[in-house]
Amino acid sequence: MISFLPRTQPTILLVFLGALLQYILGYFFWTSYCASSSNPTANHVFPFEFDGKITCIIRDFDSEASDLEGTSAAIDAVGEVARIVVVSERKLYPPVNSPSPKVVYFETQPSVRLGVPAKKLRDIVQTQWVLLLPDGVRPSRQSLYDSLRQTTTSNPAVKIWAFRVRGKRASCQSVRMDWKRWTLTMNNSAPVGDVCDAVTGSVVYLLRSVDFLNLPEPLLQPVGESLLVQSLSLGWKTHIFGETLFARSDKLLDPQMLAHQRSNHDDHVRDLYDRFQIKQTVKNGHVELFGCTKATPRCFGNVINDTPSYLYEGRWTPPCCINALKATLQHVIEVFDFNGVAYWLEGGSLLGAARNGQLIPWDYDIDLGMFLNETKKIQYLEAAREGPVADPDGFTWELAQPGEGQFYRVHYSRTNRLHVDIFPFYANNSVMTKDFWFRSHPQDREFPEDFLTPMESAGFLGLTVAVPNRRREFLELKFGKGCIENPKYPRDFKL
Ligand SMILES: *[C@@H]1O[C@H](CO)[C@@H](O)[C@H](O)[C@H]1NC(C)=O
Ligand SMILES: *[C@@H]1O[C@H](CO)[C@@H](O)[C@H](O)[C@H]1NC(C)=O
Ligand SMILES: *[C@@H]1O[C@H](CO)[C@@H](O)[C@H](O)[C@H]1NC(C)=O
Repeated sequence: MISFLPRTQPTILLVFLGALLQYILGYFFWTSYCASSSNPTANHVFPFEFDGKITCIIRDFDSEASDLEGTSAAIDAVGEVARIVVVSERKLYPPVNSPSPKVVYFETQPSVRLGVPAKKLRDIVQTQWVLLLPDGVRPSRQSLYDSLRQTTTSNPAVKIWAFRVRGKRASCQSVRMDWKRWTLTMNNSAPVGDVCDAVTGSVVYLLRSVDFLNLPEPLLQPVGESLLVQSLSLGWKTHIFGETLFARSDKLLDPQMLAHQRSNHDDHVRDLYDRFQIKQTVKNGHVELFGCTKATPRCFGNVINDTPSYLYEGRWTPPCCINALKATLQHVIEVFDFNGVAYWLEGGSLLGAARNGQLIPWDYDIDLGMFLNETKKIQYLEAAREGPVADPDGFTWELAQPGEGQFYRVHYSRTNRLHVDIFPFYANNSVMTKDFWFRSHPQDREFPEDFLTPMESAGFLGLTVAVPNRRREFLELKFGKGCIENPKYPRDFKL
């Protein structure tokens, strides 16, 4: 380390001077921008103090199948373009060599090297406007500026302008986020006077640099969905232009390239939703789940004091978790039915079923009861006494940990620990009892055997399940009078 310091010192000095110069220049640009933008007569007429220069940012491209050279050469020819910034996570591979001096490369995850300060986006974007382009588009007119100058908007909520690309899909979306249910809903909609909640598809976006740089995550991909989510939280609207100012290049029309691009796009969407904690989308009525699967951990950590972390954020059980719990319950019921073994819905699950046939909105597991003398009829329960067993469908059967007493857990998978708890009861003088009780759960108590003779059925999570007879009386015995009508948050929890 010490030995190479003397050699690098001049470099450090140069870099430092360079950074200082950039800083001074940046400061100059910034203050002159701020001074002019505080003009009180500005009433959002477009182009709003357009200084005739634009920074173009290319974020969405597929490094293995790109048209970056063609795209940047075409943009380079537009006089108003000050810089073309190609943004990638890491150094581009394969490398792209653009002859244009306007092209700069920006890495969102630069490698940290001794003495080399990371470039800052703010230092690179020094124009008042930025244009976000997907790879493979061509400005179809020589002067964007002439076209842009003719367009105005008086809607102060509009912060993004979207331009169609000839031959590419673009849709105006009405968008809503149901925070509690982790759900993003969007519908294709007709623009209301050219204004949309967001625009998706292959489009070119124009924003003021100050707005763009102030986005919490300006460089997330895919650009369209990222702007959609962030616009929603900021209350921004997008103006969509009728006129088509861009064309597409022929290079990216190869079906194999398109398929590769699409799969890349889908990966980015998944990462984006993960980042913004969106776990379900409803797009024109089509429902898709994101978040946990059999191959991933469940999407919340250990539950302390019966209160899962998401409840503190004012959110309910994530949809992917409800889905996993339902799949596990369905599987357990099939195994029990196949072996002719009786079970009944217990505890909070039964309470949810009695209320509306659903899980209690913040519940994170499912409870079943069974007869102790029937556990040996289920091979997985027998085997679980020796250690966890994965069945052929990938569910894992376990004896609950020592200290938690004698009951069983069926997990969605070995990795995803969402589970159904199975409590074995036996009769003693016509009272159903067991040897271990959760001291912290007053509802965990004995009950008369005749609640189980006969068993009844009820709807729960869209399944038909066995439940005790006189379920209201059964639930009120355990949870207290009026428990069906008066939902209570978990112990210790105050919203
Ligand atoms: C989408 O359409 C459905 C059905 O027409 C409607 O219930 C929902 O509110 C719409 N969502 C948005 C965000 O407009
Ligand atoms: C199993 O136990 C239940 C209740 O504890 C009882 O009603 C039933 O007769 C028992 N079955 C067998 C085969 O012992
Ligand atoms: C069975 O119930 C009787 C009272 O009815 C009680 O004395 C006894 O301890 C119970 N046995 C078990 C094993 O719970």
